[in-house]
Amino acid sequence: MFDFEYFAPTKAAFGKNSLSRLAGLISEQGCKKVLLHYGGGSAEKSGLLAIVRSALKEAGVPWAELGGVKPNPRLSLVYEGIELCKREGVDFLLAVGGGSVIDSAKAIGYGLANDGDVWDFYEGTRKPSACVPVGVVLTIAAAGSEMSNSSVITREAEGGGLKRGCNSNYCRPRFAVMNPELTYTLPDYQTACGCTDILMHTMERYFTNGGNMAITDAVAEGLMRTVIANARLLKHNPVDYDARAEVMWAGALSHNGLTGCGNDGGDWAVHGIEHELGGQYDVAHGAGLAAVWPAWAKYVYKDCLIRFYLFAVHVMGVRPSGTRESIAREGIEAFAAFLREIGMPTSLTELGVDPTDKEYKVMAERCAAAGGGKKGSAKVLYVQDIENILRNAK
Ligand code: NZQ
Ligand code: ZN
Repeated sequence: MFDFEYFAPTKAAFGKNSLSRLAGLISEQGCKKVLLHYGGGSAEKSGLLAIVRSALKEAGVPWAELGGVKPNPRLSLVYEGIELCKREGVDFLLAVGGGSVIDSAKAIGYGLANDGDVWDFYEGTRKPSACVPVGVVLTIAAAGSEMSNSSVITREAEGGGLKRGCNSNYCRPRFAVMNPELTYTLPDYQTACGCTDILMHTMERYFTNGGNMAITDAVAEGLMRTVIANARLLKHNPVDYDARAEVMWAGALSHNGLTGCGNDGGDWAVHGIEHELGGQYDVAHGAGLAAVWPAWAKYVYKDCLIRFYLFAVHVMGVRPSGTRESIAREGIEAFAAFLREIGMPTSLTELGVDPTDKEYKVMAERCAAAGGGKKGSAKVLYVQDIENILRNAK
Protein backbone atom coordinates (compact mmCIF):
# COMPACT_ATOMS: atom_id res chain seq x y z
CA MET A 1 0.00 0.00 0.00
CA PHE A 2 1.38 3.39 -1.02
CA ASP A 3 0.84 6.83 0.56
CA PHE A 4 -1.59 8.90 -1.42
CA GLU A 5 -3.30 12.26 -1.72
CA TYR A 6 -7.00 12.28 -2.58
CA PHE A 7 -8.35 15.58 -3.89
CA ALA A 8 -11.88 15.70 -5.29
CA PRO A 9 -13.04 19.31 -4.95
CA THR A 10 -15.88 19.22 -7.50
CA LYS A 11 -19.35 19.94 -6.17
CA ALA A 12 -21.71 17.42 -7.80
CA ALA A 13 -25.37 18.36 -8.30
CA PHE A 14 -26.86 15.02 -9.25
CA GLY A 15 -30.33 13.88 -10.33
CA LYS A 16 -33.50 14.73 -12.21
CA ASN A 17 -33.78 18.24 -10.75
CA SER A 18 -30.11 19.09 -10.80
CA LEU A 19 -30.39 21.57 -13.70
CA SER A 20 -32.48 23.82 -11.47
CA ARG A 21 -29.30 24.27 -9.39
CA LEU A 22 -27.29 25.69 -12.29
CA ALA A 23 -28.11 29.40 -11.86
CA GLY A 24 -27.18 29.23 -8.17
CA LEU A 25 -23.96 27.36 -8.89
CA ILE A 26 -22.93 30.00 -11.46
CA SER A 27 -23.75 32.84 -9.02
CA GLU A 28 -21.59 31.20 -6.34
CA GLN A 29 -18.54 31.54 -8.61
CA GLY A 30 -18.59 35.34 -8.40
CA CYS A 31 -17.48 35.58 -12.02
CA LYS A 32 -17.80 38.55 -14.40
CA LYS A 33 -18.24 36.80 -17.74
CA VAL A 34 -18.76 33.20 -18.77
CA LEU A 35 -17.76 31.29 -21.90
CA LEU A 36 -20.54 28.85 -22.79
CA HIS A 37 -18.67 26.05 -24.57
CA TYR A 38 -20.38 23.15 -26.34
CA GLY A 39 -20.11 20.51 -29.03
CA GLY A 40 -21.45 19.74 -32.46
CA GLY A 41 -25.20 20.04 -32.09
CA SER A 42 -26.75 17.54 -29.65
CA ALA A 43 -27.14 20.07 -26.81
CA GLU A 44 -28.81 22.64 -29.09
CA LYS A 45 -31.12 20.01 -30.58
CA SER A 46 -32.24 18.62 -27.23
CA GLY A 47 -33.12 22.09 -25.91
CA LEU A 48 -30.44 21.88 -23.20
CA LEU A 49 -28.59 24.99 -24.38
CA ALA A 50 -31.80 27.03 -24.12
CA ILE A 51 -32.15 25.92 -20.49
CA VAL A 52 -28.51 26.78 -19.79
CA ARG A 53 -28.89 30.24 -21.37
CA SER A 54 -31.93 30.86 -19.13
CA ALA A 55 -29.86 29.85 -16.10
CA LEU A 56 -27.12 32.31 -17.10
CA LYS A 57 -29.75 35.07 -17.40
CA GLU A 58 -31.17 34.11 -14.02
CA ALA A 59 -27.68 34.27 -12.51
CA GLY A 60 -27.29 37.73 -14.04
CA VAL A 61 -23.92 36.91 -15.61
CA PRO A 62 -23.16 37.93 -19.22
CA TRP A 63 -21.67 35.32 -21.49
CA ALA A 64 -19.96 34.61 -24.82
CA GLU A 65 -20.44 31.36 -26.76
CA LEU A 66 -18.17 28.95 -28.60
CA GLY A 67 -19.63 25.73 -30.02
CA GLY A 68 -18.25 23.18 -32.45
CA VAL A 69 -16.06 21.03 -30.17
CA LYS A 70 -15.44 17.70 -31.91
CA PRO A 71 -14.80 14.34 -30.24
CA ASN A 72 -11.00 14.16 -29.82
CA PRO A 73 -11.11 17.93 -29.27
CA ARG A 74 -8.85 19.97 -31.47
CA LEU A 75 -6.06 22.36 -30.51
CA SER A 76 -7.13 24.90 -33.17
CA LEU A 77 -10.50 25.46 -31.44
CA VAL A 78 -8.70 25.78 -28.10
CA TYR A 79 -6.56 28.60 -29.57
CA GLU A 80 -9.73 30.22 -30.94
CA GLY A 81 -11.35 29.96 -27.51
CA ILE A 82 -8.36 31.52 -25.76
CA GLU A 83 -8.42 34.53 -28.12
CA LEU A 84 -12.18 34.92 -27.79
CA CYS A 85 -12.04 34.80 -23.99
CA LYS A 86 -9.22 37.36 -23.87
CA ARG A 87 -11.22 39.74 -26.08
CA GLU A 88 -14.41 39.23 -24.06
CA GLY A 89 -12.87 39.30 -20.58
CA VAL A 90 -14.10 35.80 -19.71
CA ASP A 91 -13.21 34.55 -16.23
CA PHE A 92 -15.30 31.35 -16.01
CA LEU A 93 -15.73 28.47 -18.46
CA LEU A 94 -19.00 26.56 -18.62
CA ALA A 95 -18.70 23.29 -20.54
CA VAL A 96 -21.99 21.76 -21.70
CA GLY A 97 -21.26 18.32 -23.11
CA GLY A 98 -18.97 15.36 -22.57
CA GLY A 99 -15.28 14.77 -22.12
CA SER A 100 -14.37 16.52 -25.35
CA VAL A 101 -16.13 19.78 -24.46
CA ILE A 102 -14.90 19.70 -20.86
CA ASP A 103 -11.31 19.00 -21.95
CA SER A 104 -11.45 21.80 -24.51
CA ALA A 105 -12.71 24.16 -21.77
CA LYS A 106 -9.90 23.04 -19.45
CA ALA A 107 -7.34 23.69 -22.19
CA ILE A 108 -8.77 27.17 -22.79
CA GLY A 109 -8.55 27.70 -19.02
CA TYR A 110 -4.86 26.76 -19.04
CA GLY A 111 -4.23 29.03 -22.02
CA LEU A 112 -5.87 31.99 -20.30
CA ALA A 113 -4.13 31.55 -16.97
CA ASN A 114 -0.59 30.88 -18.24
CA ASP A 115 1.73 32.63 -20.70
CA GLY A 116 3.11 30.94 -23.82
CA ASP A 117 1.78 28.13 -26.00
CA VAL A 118 -0.81 25.98 -24.20
CA TRP A 119 0.30 22.92 -26.23
CA ASP A 120 3.54 22.86 -24.18
CA PHE A 121 1.48 21.47 -21.27
CA TYR A 122 0.19 18.63 -23.45
CA GLU A 123 3.60 17.85 -24.92
CA GLY A 124 4.91 17.82 -21.37
CA THR A 125 7.64 20.42 -21.90
CA ARG A 126 6.17 22.78 -19.24
CA LYS A 127 3.70 22.48 -16.37
CA PRO A 128 0.74 24.82 -15.88
CA SER A 129 0.64 26.89 -12.70
CA ALA A 130 -3.08 27.80 -12.83
CA CYS A 131 -6.31 27.32 -14.77
CA VAL A 132 -9.31 29.61 -15.17
CA PRO A 133 -12.16 27.80 -13.35
CA VAL A 134 -14.44 25.39 -15.19
CA GLY A 135 -18.03 24.30 -14.50
CA VAL A 136 -19.80 21.42 -16.22
CA VAL A 137 -23.25 20.37 -17.39
CA LEU A 138 -22.63 16.73 -18.30
CA THR A 139 -24.40 15.11 -21.27
CA ILE A 140 -22.58 11.76 -21.55
CA ALA A 141 -21.28 9.39 -18.89
CA ALA A 142 -17.85 8.39 -20.13
CA ALA A 143 -14.56 10.26 -19.77
CA GLY A 144 -14.99 11.32 -16.16
CA SER A 145 -13.54 14.73 -16.97
CA GLU A 146 -16.31 16.30 -14.85
CA MET A 147 -14.24 15.42 -11.75
CA SER A 148 -10.84 14.44 -13.11
CA ASN A 149 -7.52 16.26 -13.13
CA SER A 150 -7.07 15.47 -16.79
CA SER A 151 -7.58 17.10 -20.18
CA VAL A 152 -6.83 15.44 -23.52
CA ILE A 153 -6.35 17.49 -26.71
CA THR A 154 -5.48 16.57 -30.30
CA ARG A 155 -3.11 18.70 -32.36
CA GLU A 156 -4.12 18.40 -35.99
CA ALA A 157 -1.46 17.53 -38.56
CA GLU A 158 -1.24 16.22 -42.13
CA GLY A 159 -1.45 12.41 -42.13
CA GLY A 160 -2.76 12.06 -38.55
CA GLY A 161 -2.82 14.20 -35.44
CA LEU A 162 -1.15 13.91 -32.05
CA LYS A 163 -3.40 13.27 -29.02
CA ARG A 164 -1.89 14.13 -25.66
CA GLY A 165 -3.09 14.61 -22.09
CA CYS A 166 -2.20 17.09 -19.39
CA ASN A 167 -2.85 16.24 -15.73
CA SER A 168 -3.00 18.79 -12.92
CA ASN A 169 -5.32 19.52 -10.03
CA TYR A 170 -5.79 23.10 -11.28
CA CYS A 171 -8.28 21.98 -13.91
CA ARG A 172 -10.63 19.95 -11.68
CA PRO A 173 -14.08 21.46 -12.27
CA ARG A 174 -15.68 23.64 -9.59
CA PHE A 175 -19.05 21.98 -10.11
CA ALA A 176 -20.73 19.34 -12.25
CA VAL A 177 -24.46 19.26 -12.94
CA MET A 178 -25.30 15.62 -13.59
CA ASN A 179 -28.81 14.80 -14.73
CA PRO A 180 -28.91 11.20 -16.01
CA GLU A 181 -31.96 12.04 -18.14
CA LEU A 182 -29.71 14.20 -20.35
CA THR A 183 -28.04 11.00 -21.56
CA TYR A 184 -31.28 9.44 -22.91
CA THR A 185 -30.59 10.94 -26.36
CA LEU A 186 -27.20 9.24 -26.75
CA PRO A 187 -26.79 6.83 -29.67
CA ASP A 188 -26.35 3.25 -28.36
CA TYR A 189 -22.79 3.23 -29.68
CA GLN A 190 -21.84 6.28 -27.57
CA THR A 191 -23.50 4.77 -24.49
CA ALA A 192 -21.40 1.62 -24.97
CA CYS A 193 -18.23 3.64 -25.62
CA GLY A 194 -18.93 5.53 -22.40
CA CYS A 195 -19.45 2.38 -20.31
CA THR A 196 -16.23 0.94 -21.72
CA ASP A 197 -14.24 4.06 -20.86
CA ILE A 198 -15.68 4.15 -17.33
CA LEU A 199 -14.67 0.52 -16.80
CA MET A 200 -11.21 1.13 -18.21
CA HIS A 201 -10.52 4.04 -15.85
CA THR A 202 -10.87 1.66 -12.93
CA MET A 203 -9.27 -1.29 -14.74
CA GLU A 204 -6.17 0.79 -15.53
CA ARG A 205 -5.86 1.39 -11.79
CA TYR A 206 -6.73 -2.21 -10.83
CA PHE A 207 -4.23 -4.13 -13.01
CA THR A 208 -1.01 -3.05 -11.38
CA ASN A 209 2.00 -4.63 -9.76
CA GLY A 210 2.23 -1.72 -7.38
CA GLY A 211 0.58 -1.49 -3.98
CA ASN A 212 -3.03 -2.36 -3.42
CA MET A 213 -5.56 -1.67 -0.71
CA ALA A 214 -8.51 -3.87 0.22
CA ILE A 215 -10.98 -0.99 0.47
CA THR A 216 -9.88 0.38 -2.91
CA ASP A 217 -10.26 -3.07 -4.46
CA ALA A 218 -13.74 -3.45 -2.98
CA VAL A 219 -14.83 -0.05 -4.37
CA ALA A 220 -13.23 -0.83 -7.73
CA GLU A 221 -14.78 -4.29 -8.05
CA GLY A 222 -18.20 -2.99 -7.02
CA LEU A 223 -17.94 -0.17 -9.54
CA MET A 224 -16.95 -2.55 -12.35
CA ARG A 225 -19.77 -5.00 -11.58
CA THR A 226 -22.26 -2.11 -11.44
CA VAL A 227 -21.20 -0.69 -14.80
CA ILE A 228 -21.27 -4.09 -16.50
CA ALA A 229 -24.76 -4.88 -15.16
CA ASN A 230 -26.17 -1.48 -16.09
CA ALA A 231 -24.53 -1.37 -19.52
CA ARG A 232 -26.45 -4.58 -20.24
CA LEU A 233 -29.70 -3.02 -19.02
CA LEU A 234 -29.15 0.07 -21.19
CA LYS A 235 -28.63 -2.08 -24.26
CA HIS A 236 -32.24 -3.15 -23.92
CA ASN A 237 -33.74 0.02 -22.44
CA PRO A 238 -31.80 3.24 -23.08
CA VAL A 239 -34.28 5.31 -21.02
CA ASP A 240 -33.90 3.27 -17.82
CA TYR A 241 -33.33 6.16 -15.38
CA ASP A 242 -31.75 4.11 -12.62
CA ALA A 243 -29.33 2.43 -15.01
CA ARG A 244 -28.37 5.81 -16.51
CA ALA A 245 -27.85 7.18 -12.99
CA GLU A 246 -25.68 4.25 -11.85
CA VAL A 247 -23.47 4.60 -14.92
CA MET A 248 -23.22 8.40 -14.64
CA TRP A 249 -22.12 8.37 -11.02
CA ALA A 250 -19.74 5.48 -11.71
CA GLY A 251 -18.20 7.59 -14.50
CA ALA A 252 -17.34 10.38 -12.10
CA LEU A 253 -16.00 8.10 -9.34
CA SER A 254 -14.03 5.94 -11.75
CA HIS A 255 -11.76 8.79 -12.77
CA ASN A 256 -11.66 11.20 -9.82
CA GLY A 257 -8.93 9.17 -8.10
CA LEU A 258 -11.08 7.12 -5.73
CA THR A 259 -10.31 3.76 -7.34
CA GLY A 260 -6.58 4.44 -7.32
CA CYS A 261 -6.02 5.22 -3.64
CA GLY A 262 -3.08 3.24 -2.29
CA ASN A 263 -1.86 1.84 -5.60
CA ASP A 264 1.12 2.89 -7.68
CA GLY A 265 -0.79 5.23 -10.00
CA GLY A 266 -2.01 2.51 -12.32
CA ASP A 267 -1.02 0.93 -15.60
CA TRP A 268 -2.44 3.24 -18.32
CA ALA A 269 -0.89 1.36 -21.25
CA VAL A 270 -4.26 0.76 -22.94
CA HIS A 271 -5.06 4.47 -22.67
CA GLY A 272 -1.63 5.32 -24.02
CA ILE A 273 -2.13 3.05 -27.02
CA GLU A 274 -5.65 4.41 -27.62
CA HIS A 275 -4.33 7.96 -27.62
CA GLU A 276 -2.13 7.00 -30.60
CA LEU A 277 -5.11 5.45 -32.39
CA GLY A 278 -7.32 8.45 -31.57
CA GLY A 279 -4.71 10.92 -32.82
CA GLN A 280 -3.99 8.92 -35.99
CA TYR A 281 -7.48 7.76 -36.98
CA ASP A 282 -9.89 9.95 -34.96
CA VAL A 283 -11.72 6.92 -33.48
CA ALA A 284 -14.15 7.17 -30.52
CA HIS A 285 -12.08 6.86 -27.33
CA GLY A 286 -14.10 4.04 -25.70
CA ALA A 287 -14.15 1.98 -28.90
CA GLY A 288 -10.40 2.38 -29.30
CA LEU A 289 -9.86 1.11 -25.75
CA ALA A 290 -12.13 -1.90 -26.38
CA ALA A 291 -10.27 -2.78 -29.58
CA VAL A 292 -6.91 -2.89 -27.79
CA TRP A 293 -7.79 -4.34 -24.37
CA PRO A 294 -8.07 -8.09 -25.21
CA ALA A 295 -4.69 -8.10 -27.00
CA TRP A 296 -3.11 -6.11 -24.16
CA ALA A 297 -4.59 -8.41 -21.49
CA LYS A 298 -3.40 -11.60 -23.20
CA TYR A 299 0.08 -10.08 -23.57
CA VAL A 300 0.50 -9.01 -19.93
CA TYR A 301 -1.65 -11.23 -17.69
CA LYS A 302 1.04 -13.73 -16.68
CA ASP A 303 3.09 -10.86 -15.22
CA CYS A 304 0.16 -9.71 -13.08
CA LEU A 305 -1.56 -13.03 -12.51
CA ILE A 306 -3.11 -12.43 -9.10
CA ARG A 307 -4.91 -9.28 -10.27
CA PHE A 308 -6.27 -10.98 -13.39
CA TYR A 309 -7.36 -13.94 -11.23
CA LEU A 310 -9.18 -11.61 -8.80
CA PHE A 311 -10.80 -9.73 -11.69
CA ALA A 312 -12.04 -13.01 -13.19
CA VAL A 313 -13.54 -14.24 -9.91
CA HIS A 314 -14.73 -11.01 -8.26
CA VAL A 315 -15.86 -9.06 -11.31
CA MET A 316 -16.61 -11.47 -14.15
CA GLY A 317 -18.04 -14.20 -11.92
CA VAL A 318 -15.71 -16.96 -13.13
CA ARG A 319 -15.86 -20.08 -10.90
CA PRO A 320 -12.53 -20.43 -9.07
CA SER A 321 -11.83 -23.97 -10.17
CA GLY A 322 -8.71 -24.75 -12.20
CA THR A 323 -5.33 -23.08 -12.22
CA ARG A 324 -4.94 -19.35 -11.59
CA GLU A 325 -3.75 -19.02 -15.16
CA SER A 326 -6.78 -20.73 -16.68
CA ILE A 327 -9.14 -18.72 -14.47
CA ALA A 328 -7.41 -15.47 -15.43
CA ARG A 329 -7.75 -16.38 -19.12
CA GLU A 330 -11.46 -17.14 -18.62
CA GLY A 331 -11.88 -13.69 -17.09
CA ILE A 332 -10.24 -12.06 -20.11
CA GLU A 333 -12.50 -14.01 -22.49
CA ALA A 334 -15.58 -13.12 -20.41
CA PHE A 335 -14.75 -9.42 -20.52
CA ALA A 336 -14.10 -9.51 -24.29
CA ALA A 337 -17.47 -11.26 -24.72
CA PHE A 338 -19.13 -8.51 -22.65
CA LEU A 339 -17.57 -5.85 -24.91
CA ARG A 340 -18.94 -7.63 -27.98
CA GLU A 341 -22.33 -8.00 -26.31
CA ILE A 342 -22.66 -4.22 -25.91
CA GLY A 343 -21.54 -3.63 -29.49
CA MET A 344 -17.91 -2.69 -28.97
CA PRO A 345 -15.09 -3.74 -31.31
CA THR A 346 -12.51 -6.13 -29.86
CA SER A 347 -9.94 -5.77 -32.66
CA LEU A 348 -8.51 -3.04 -34.86
CA THR A 349 -10.28 -4.57 -37.85
CA GLU A 350 -13.63 -4.29 -36.08
CA LEU A 351 -12.68 -0.74 -35.12
CA GLY A 352 -12.25 -0.05 -38.85
CA VAL A 353 -8.55 0.74 -38.89
CA ASP A 354 -5.79 -1.03 -40.79
CA PRO A 355 -2.38 0.46 -39.94
CA THR A 356 0.53 0.16 -42.36
CA ASP A 357 3.81 -1.35 -41.14
CA LYS A 358 5.17 2.16 -40.71
CA GLU A 359 2.12 3.33 -38.76
CA TYR A 360 2.42 0.40 -36.32
CA LYS A 361 6.01 1.41 -35.63
CA VAL A 362 5.33 5.14 -35.36
CA MET A 363 2.39 4.61 -32.98
CA ALA A 364 4.46 2.26 -30.78
CA GLU A 365 7.41 4.65 -30.72
CA ARG A 366 5.25 7.66 -29.88
CA CYS A 367 3.35 5.79 -27.20
CA ALA A 368 6.55 4.65 -25.47
CA ALA A 369 8.13 8.09 -25.83
CA ALA A 370 5.11 9.73 -24.18
CA GLY A 371 5.83 7.53 -21.13
CA GLY A 372 9.55 8.32 -21.10
CA GLY A 373 10.44 5.17 -23.09
CA LYS A 374 8.06 2.68 -21.44
CA LYS A 375 4.46 2.19 -20.39
CA GLY A 376 2.59 0.07 -17.88
CA SER A 377 2.70 -1.50 -14.46
CA ALA A 378 0.95 -4.87 -14.94
CA LYS A 379 3.89 -5.50 -17.25
CA VAL A 380 6.37 -2.83 -18.22
CA LEU A 381 6.14 -2.39 -21.99
CA TYR A 382 8.79 -1.06 -24.34
CA VAL A 383 8.45 -0.01 -27.97
CA GLN A 384 8.58 -3.56 -29.36
CA ASP A 385 5.99 -4.81 -26.81
CA ILE A 386 3.60 -2.01 -27.76
CA GLU A 387 4.03 -2.77 -31.45
CA ASN A 388 3.40 -6.48 -30.72
CA ILE A 389 0.19 -5.64 -28.85
CA LEU A 390 -1.03 -3.39 -31.68
CA ARG A 391 -0.27 -6.12 -34.23
CA ASN A 392 -1.93 -8.80 -32.06
CA ALA A 393 -5.00 -6.52 -31.84
CA LYS A 394 -5.40 -6.60 -35.63
O1 NZQ B 1 -20.84 17.13 -30.19
P1 NZQ B 1 -22.20 16.63 -29.88
O2 NZQ B 1 -23.20 16.96 -30.91
O3 NZQ B 1 -22.64 17.02 -28.49
O4 NZQ B 1 -22.12 15.01 -29.92
C1 NZQ B 1 -21.40 14.25 -28.97
C2 NZQ B 1 -20.22 13.51 -29.61
O5 NZQ B 1 -20.44 13.25 -30.96
C3 NZQ B 1 -22.28 13.12 -28.53
N1 NZQ B 1 -23.12 13.44 -27.38
C4 NZQ B 1 -22.72 13.86 -26.16
N2 NZQ B 1 -23.77 13.97 -25.34
C5 NZQ B 1 -24.86 13.61 -26.07
C6 NZQ B 1 -24.44 13.29 -27.37
N3 NZQ B 1 -25.31 12.90 -28.33
C7 NZQ B 1 -26.61 12.83 -28.00
N4 NZQ B 1 -27.08 13.10 -26.75
C8 NZQ B 1 -26.23 13.49 -25.77
N5 NZQ B 1 -26.71 13.73 -24.54
O6 NZQ B 1 -21.39 12.09 -28.14
C9 NZQ B 1 -20.20 12.17 -28.90
C10 NZQ B 1 -19.01 11.95 -28.00
O7 NZQ B 1 -18.85 13.05 -27.10
P2 NZQ B 1 -17.47 13.23 -26.33
O8 NZQ B 1 -17.55 14.44 -25.50
O9 NZQ B 1 -16.34 13.11 -27.30
O10 NZQ B 1 -17.46 11.91 -25.41
P3 NZQ B 1 -16.60 11.48 -24.19
O11 NZQ B 1 -17.18 12.00 -22.93
O12 NZQ B 1 -16.39 10.04 -24.34
O13 NZQ B 1 -15.19 12.24 -24.36
C11 NZQ B 1 -14.15 11.68 -25.13
C12 NZQ B 1 -12.91 12.53 -25.02
O14 NZQ B 1 -12.46 12.59 -23.65
C13 NZQ B 1 -11.10 12.15 -23.61
C14 NZQ B 1 -11.03 11.17 -24.73
O15 NZQ B 1 -9.71 10.86 -25.11
C15 NZQ B 1 -11.79 11.90 -25.82
O16 NZQ B 1 -10.99 12.89 -26.40
N6 NZQ B 1 -10.80 11.66 -22.26
C16 NZQ B 1 -10.75 12.56 -21.28
C17 NZQ B 1 -10.43 12.21 -19.99
C18 NZQ B 1 -10.39 13.22 -18.92
N7 NZQ B 1 -10.41 14.49 -19.25
O17 NZQ B 1 -10.28 12.89 -17.72
C19 NZQ B 1 -10.06 10.84 -19.63
C20 NZQ B 1 -10.41 9.84 -20.65
O18 NZQ B 1 -9.59 8.71 -20.51
C21 NZQ B 1 -10.32 10.30 -22.06
O19 NZQ B 1 -9.01 10.20 -22.59
ZN1 ZN C 1 -10.54 7.03 -20.90
